[in-house]
Amino acid sequence: MAREPNIRENWGSRLGFILAAVGSALGLGNIWRFPGVAYENGGGAFLIPYLVALCTAGIPLLILEFTIGRRFRGSAPLAFRRLNKNTEFIGWWQVAISIVIGVYYAVIIAWAAWYAFFSLDQQWGEDPATFLMVDFLQAGGLYDFGTWLPGLAVALALVWLATLAVIGAGIKRGIEATSKVFIPLLVVLFGALLVQALTLDGAVDGLNAFFTPDWEAIRGAQVWLAAYAQIFFTLSVGFGIMITYGSYLKRKSDITTSAWTVGMSNSFGEILAGIAVFSVLGFLALETGVPIEKQSYAGVGLAFIAFPAIINTLPYLAGLFGVLFFVSLVVAGWASLISVVEVPVAAFEDRFGWGRRKAVAIVGGVMAAASLVLFPTVNGLMVLDVTDHFINNYGIAVAAPVAIIAVVWVLWRWQELRDDANATSTFKIGPIWFACLGVITPLALAVILFFNVRDLLAAGPDSPLADYHEYQAFGWAVAGGSLAFALVMALVLRRKEAPPAIPEEVFDDAGYVSIEKEVDL
Ligand code: ALA
Repeated sequence: MAREPNIRENWGSRLGFILAAVGSALGLGNIWRFPGVAYENGGGAFLIPYLVALCTAGIPLLILEFTIGRRFRGSAPLAFRRLNKNTEFIGWWQVAISIVIGVYYAVIIAWAAWYAFFSLDQQWGEDPATFLMVDFLQAGGLYDFGTWLPGLAVALALVWLATLAVIGAGIKRGIEATSKVFIPLLVVLFGALLVQALTLDGAVDGLNAFFTPDWEAIRGAQVWLAAYAQIFFTLSVGFGIMITYGSYLKRKSDITTSAWTVGMSNSFGEILAGIAVFSVLGFLALETGVPIEKQSYAGVGLAFIAFPAIINTLPYLAGLFGVLFFVSLVVAGWASLISVVEVPVAAFEDRFGWGRRKAVAIVGGVMAAASLVLFPTVNGLMVLDVTDHFINNYGIAVAAPVAIIAVVWVLWRWQELRDDANATSTFKIGPIWFACLGVITPLALAVILFFNVRDLLAAGPDSPLADYHEYQAFGWAVAGGSLAFALVMALVLRRKEAPPAIPEEVFDDAGYVSIEKEVDL
């Protein structure tokens, strides 16, 4: 008997799809990760590799992912399987990366939720650094297993429940409907925050630090890898999200314009977040007399130490400022978490024929359990930091060029995909897209990765990579484990045929899959 045809939901409207994709892209990557990564990698200088990576890798890959998803109408593993039997592992690799990211991403939202509450009366007191590390997280070393933090676990459980409820409600009623509320809300919250940040004394000094290129700083491979990894993370490309979201597109949707809209909105939001954060750093420098480049607020500390420190010194509306900042983090992060978790949920649904509820319960349940066991703990912060570094720099930044090389060079399918995107898009892609995607991105990443691995392996105690060097066994296990998971899944499913790809004729005039025609498959 023929296998049941795969009847997929579609986005309800073009705006709904764009908002969902922007909701995925705009996230902790913009507000929490970008300013921190920029700060660690030469401040203003970072904008140059960032913009190069956006134009040469980010947008071209976004176009490719939307096209693959829409053409093969499947989440990452199914889409890659339909592309070619031998590329299914790439889809599962992306699923594994999404699982890892989702598991730690949720806990940052839980921290932010607590901090929104702490903001009301600045519960972190005079010394936010001690409050974060000692009182709130009781932070220990990577291998200090044991103590669990119940308060944080409760917030984390709520984050997971809310996320799984939205995904369980489906594409239109769940993800699209939520995005239509979240994105306008985020614009209002963040707009208010930005105005408040820009009016602080010292903001101009902060902006000077953010926008003044330091040419020396961008000579290191690490800065370039950080820029590419940041672009993939922030645009939600390279780990299955945009393929999955593309698979719910109507056949006639305009792919390239949507990709530019999403890419530009995301980077605009990211640079605005940078402006807000550096304005407040300028203010802090003025207050404390310590210049911006000497303040040591790397990574997590920027959002959860520098911001509280600033809130303490604000002349007026301090509580409001804190609530705006941390609620923005929660809202932006939650919309992105939904998209991250949708990747494995849709993958299991598609490839094992599970219903949505079953997929959400099993896949979402396992992720939530892993997140609850691993992260509200005294070593959670270290596990998170090392995992984030390795899964982005050696997970996404390796899986993305592998996917590109497979599609473009090994299978030589780029012309088919280019024509597919062009057939329904106002803005056409051609040789520049090919050059950026097929040549510049893989070559750049190969060179960058080579130098970066060399630096990581040789990092001494004074290197910025010292921690990652020390914990590399764990880090490589996470990055390598994702690939191993992918290979095993692809092997297990090798004999399990993918449901047939739906031919063009089944689309009706409005671009929906025509149910009557589909039944005849
Ligand atoms: N793109 C999402 C973010 O930036 C994952 O946080």
